[in-house]
Amino acid sequence: MRVIIIDDDFDAWRAAALDALAQQLTPESIDWRTAQAEPALFGEAASPAGAADAPHIRVSRELASLLKDAAHFRDPRRWSFLYRVLWRWAQGDRSVASPADEDGARLYKMAKAVRRAQHDMIAYVRFRQREASLGAPEYVAWYEPGHDVLAWAAEHFAARMGRSTWLIATPDAAAMFDGERLQLERRRALASDHAVDTPDAAEALWMTYYRSIFNPARLNESALEQHMPVRFWKGLPEGALIPQLVSDARGGARRVAQAQSVGALVGKPVQVEAQDAQPERDAPTSLDNCRRCDLWRNATQAVPGAGPSGARIMLLGEQPGDQEDLKGEPFVGPAGQLLHDAMQRAGMPREQVYLTNAVKHFKWEPRGKRRLHKTPAQQEVQACSYWLEQELHDVGARVIVTLGATALAALFGRRATLAAHIGRVVPYRDKLVVATYHPSYALRQNDEAARERTVAAIVEALERARELIGS
Ligand code: URA
Ligand code: SF4
Repeated sequence: MRVIIIDDDFDAWRAAALDALAQQLTPESIDWRTAQAEPALFGEAASPAGAADAPHIRVSRELASLLKDAAHFRDPRRWSFLYRVLWRWAQGDRSVASPADEDGARLYKMAKAVRRAQHDMIAYVRFRQREASLGAPEYVAWYEPGHDVLAWAAEHFAARMGRSTWLIATPDAAAMFDGERLQLERRRALASDHAVDTPDAAEALWMTYYRSIFNPARLNESALEQHMPVRFWKGLPEGALIPQLVSDARGGARRVAQAQSVGALVGKPVQVEAQDAQPERDAPTSLDNCRRCDLWRNATQAVPGAGPSGARIMLLGEQPGDQEDLKGEPFVGPAGQLLHDAMQRAGMPREQVYLTNAVKHFKWEPRGKRRLHKTPAQQEVQACSYWLEQELHDVGARVIVTLGATALAALFGRRATLAAHIGRVVPYRDKLVVATYHPSYALRQNDEAARERTVAAIVEALERARELIGS
């Protein structure tokens, strides 16, 4: 009997399986084991010696995708089963890829169950937003996938959640995203009796996670159990942590305790404290690299202003919305549509207008599957004025139309109210400012007459701007 120890994933199995095929090892002669299951007994996983010059065997595209999906089926015997399928195929037995075959049927069933688990995970993971003061990750989710689909789902979320930082914990692994890199930590097997005494990276990560959701002010055992099912919870070292967490909380030492467990992480870097994760705040080299405030984290990209550099009018909005964030251009969503209509009504020529926002990254909060606009804080507006200043300098527009309260405050400070400025022309440095409503204010008004009054006021402000540049 040949023992082959691999990392518990498809690529490791494939390399080792090709190697075994090349040596003509029959399925019955191999004992497949995974490094994660028996770290103490076997040490490092064997990297297949012949991987570089492993033979190629041609499998149909369908079989390749079945094998790949079935590899995530949670069953310790899967590697040996998959090898039997591959072996039979390599012997020329094509029936193994048919649902009419016993192995084939099992393969189809496994692949189907995995695809279903992937779909479920995407649909049912619920992120909870954590207190900002605790630092990253900003969102955490606990989920028990039906099969080993965390890595797959994590890629999905990494592509969709912008630069937010998050952690998805599952019973046997956790995925962390630090805004740029995805990292996966598997738990070592709990079975070995020294697991609790030798916290490894995964356990430290777990403790961090656990502390992050643990709110001693609302210590409620049944809530804890709901969040982390007892079946799993009992086997975890976190169980032992509860008394310590409670006393830490009394002593106000919770953050310290959390920092300690982060410090206990070994191996790959994981940044858990927001301050550490923040590169330089000043003098960013480009808008996309800007870290002057935290808004870059949750956004897809920065949205720069758009328009000719010789534009004589600048329209200043608040911040990109959902669609602007995805497209990277200002005013391309519903508010932008309304603004463009208003510009047309005012006869404002596009080529004389530069469109931009006071804040260049989209600020939002999750509401179900939607990203809900959140008004930027004055601190963020101030941080981002660095970029607005450059635009004011580079564009040299004579007239600025501020849309809404945030844009007005970006120029005159928070005390400048829209009510006091609306419809007036106010000098600003060597420029003139016309203040008006934000187009999304009009969109929010249900009463049609009121909405039309708001739109008319915006049109009037745009006409005023035209008069001021004498066009
Ligand atoms: N709202 C704004 O203020 N700016 C945009 O770019 C889009 C919507
Ligand atoms: Fe920089 Fe502005 Fe983005 Fe904040 S919102 S990170 S200041 S570009």
